Amino acid sequence: MKIEKTFLSQLRKVNFKKISFGSYYSDHMFCSEYRNGIWKNSTIKPFGNIVVSPISLVFHYGQAVFEGMKAYKDKNNNVFLFRPKENFKRMNRSAIRLEMPSIPEEIFMNGLKKLIDLDRDWIPNNYGQSLYIRPFLIATDGILSAKPSKNYMFMIISTPVDSYYNKPLKIKVEEKYGRSVSGGVGFAKAAGNYASSFYPTRLANEEGFDQILWTDSSTHTKVEESGTMNVFFLFKDTLITPKFNDNILSGITCNSIISIAKKDKIKVEERDLNILEIIEGLKNGELKEAFGCGTAAVITFFKIISYKGIDYCLPKISDKNRISMYLKKRLLDIQHNLSKDPFKWRFLLEKS
Ligand code: PLP
Ligand code: COI
Repeated sequence: MKIEKTFLSQLRKVNFKKISFGSYYSDHMFCSEYRNGIWKNSTIKPFGNIVVSPISLVFHYGQAVFEGMKAYKDKNNNVFLFRPKENFKRMNRSAIRLEMPSIPEEIFMNGLKKLIDLDRDWIPNNYGQSLYIRPFLIATDGILSAKPSKNYMFMIISTPVDSYYNKPLKIKVEEKYGRSVSGGVGFAKAAGNYASSFYPTRLANEEGFDQILWTDSSTHTKVEESGTMNVFFLFKDTLITPKFNDNILSGITCNSIISIAKKDKIKVEERDLNILEIIEGLKNGELKEAFGCGTAAVITFFKIISYKGIDYCLPKISDKNRISMYLKKRLLDIQHNLSKDPFKWRFLLEKS
């Protein structure tokens, strides 16, 4: 792999006390090209603009998929990636659905390891902070016909981050717009899924809500996800989360929370969840907590769920009594090497 280091690190410009999502990008980026069936030219170079044709397929037909993962530091400045192979596998599941080439594991993992090792000083070492890593794959053929590209570019960039949300969220149950359809691309991390969510989310924002709670687009009764998060609802002492299906992105955070909860003897059900069960639970007090989870969001709890124009408040519970906060700490402690890792999720990044 060719490695071209930057002459002038931008690290001194970063104020680690104030790092909102994506405000700074680390010094280097990884890039690999797919040309006529062969991956070539894997390179790490200084972060900067790339040159692509204005008729690149990605701009016109949206052939683009991406991933989101994080690197953490422990107190001794050891660096850990969290379950990177899960992101690798999901990226290729997304790529297949968008008729894009799979990325060889060696290219993904070597690019990732070398890049993050080179930019390890960009990883904050405060609890809860991390380096957010964004691998992405785009179609680069300069041809206007609507057909899959023959050429692609796979890249990895990274940005130091704090948690994505800094307050409990007000959520609106969406009954008009849909995020995904059965047989569609909802399970994939396809760029277009995000573009299509922006308009309904902006409408919800204008009504005073932070995020949408997506429901299935045919009946608008089954709960799916919220924004860029999978969701959990605590009914009495049981956590319920919608079972992954082809409408739902199979979140690595959600999967990790399910494993931690099961290990800690917290009851968890993965199943279809009807919005009326949630409203009933809010009315009769059986719904104790509701929260979203994701790589960027970590765990963020909901304070209001709005359905058919009525705002329902979740019970006010102190943080120390919240299952969501307990699970968040369990997860962060594993990620920051503050507790044992019975699941073998931490991936130590060797120093070169
Ligand atoms: N759902 C959507 C739509 C997302 O964008 C994300 C974020 O990646 C998630 C769920 C959570 O997935 P993960 O925990 O793998 O980040
Ligand atoms: C993530 O949590 O990794 C995401 O992809 C969220 C991002 C779209 C802001």
